[in-house]
Amino acid sequence: MGQQLEQHESNNEKRGEFIAVCSAKGGIGRTLLSVNLAVALCKKNIRIGVMDGDFQFGDVSLAMDLQSTFTIKDVIQELERLDEYTLASYLSHHESGVRILAAPEKPEFADLVTERTLEKIIPLLLKQHEYVIADTGVGLQDKGLHILEKADQILIVTNLEMATLKNTKSMLDTLDMLGLREKVRLVVNRATMESVIQATDVADILGEEEPIFIPNDFQIASQSLNIGIPFVMNHGKTEIAKSIFKMAEQISSRREISIIKTKGPSLLTKLFTRKRLKEEVE
Ligand SMILES: Nc1ncnc2c1ncn2[C@@H]1O[C@H](COP(=O)(O)OP(=O)(O)OP(=O)(O)O)[C@@H](O)[C@H]1O
Ligand SMILES: [Mg+2]
Repeated sequence: MGQQLEQHESNNEKRGEFIAVCSAKGGIGRTLLSVNLAVALCKKNIRIGVMDGDFQFGDVSLAMDLQSTFTIKDVIQELERLDEYTLASYLSHHESGVRILAAPEKPEFADLVTERTLEKIIPLLLKQHEYVIADTGVGLQDKGLHILEKADQILIVTNLEMATLKNTKSMLDTLDMLGLREKVRLVVNRATMESVIQATDVADILGEEEPIFIPNDFQIASQSLNIGIPFVMNHGKTEIAKSIFKMAEQISSRREISIIKTKGPSLLTKLFTRKRLKEEVE
């Protein structure tokens, strides 16, 4: 078994895991969770990249107080001769160790980011990082959907509001139809907020087992975004920070060895590899 895996790896290249953070509604906490999760993972000495996949109104740089010299728009101009090393020179470095590929500075540049751009950039980011977290634009638009297709894990952020739950349910149904549902993990943000719906009911309402719960703490959350210091750095003892550390732990402990295939594998190979990796992990 071990020999088989060794052989398999020698034919292929190890790559990181791609995590997409999305939601059916805006202003739900995608960016806050993306940057704090990234820093929390980085504290575990894991190489982390963040791609700001909200190509119109990305605010990852703001949430990390970074003045990014380059953005994905600059990378596009180099696309033909891009390799992981050239790409690395376009990433912004955060003091935590997280590296960020910033979104374009103006919404009108978002259209320059095509599926082809993402096809090229995402694998190169995954070559250099153990995890790449993509904050995404709201809902299911083309490029967002492309990011979800590429993701190994999709974190869908919801809260306890009726409209959010309704839209999250529709989003889950669509992802189910697209065959992406098995990659989904539900994150109930602001889970302790006052609402007629209890956080514990969300799993039943949305048909998702074991959601991740993040408590409500507007003071810490808004301060984190406004001053651009992820709260896991300066408020590590708060309940909200602890919930992010727990999420980071859950994510990193379930990591399977992901591998870039040199050739597109057959469905049978895919099934076989999955089964074998599962056995290795167990
Ligand atoms: N757990 C939380 N407790 C309290 N407030 C929160 C929490 N999570 C997010 N918020 C608040 O919700 C607002 C939106 O957060 P954020 O910008 O991260 O959401 P978003 O989904 O990225 O929004 P957008 O659609 O604009 O990109 C912010 O004011 C933030 O402080
Ligand atoms: Mg955002």
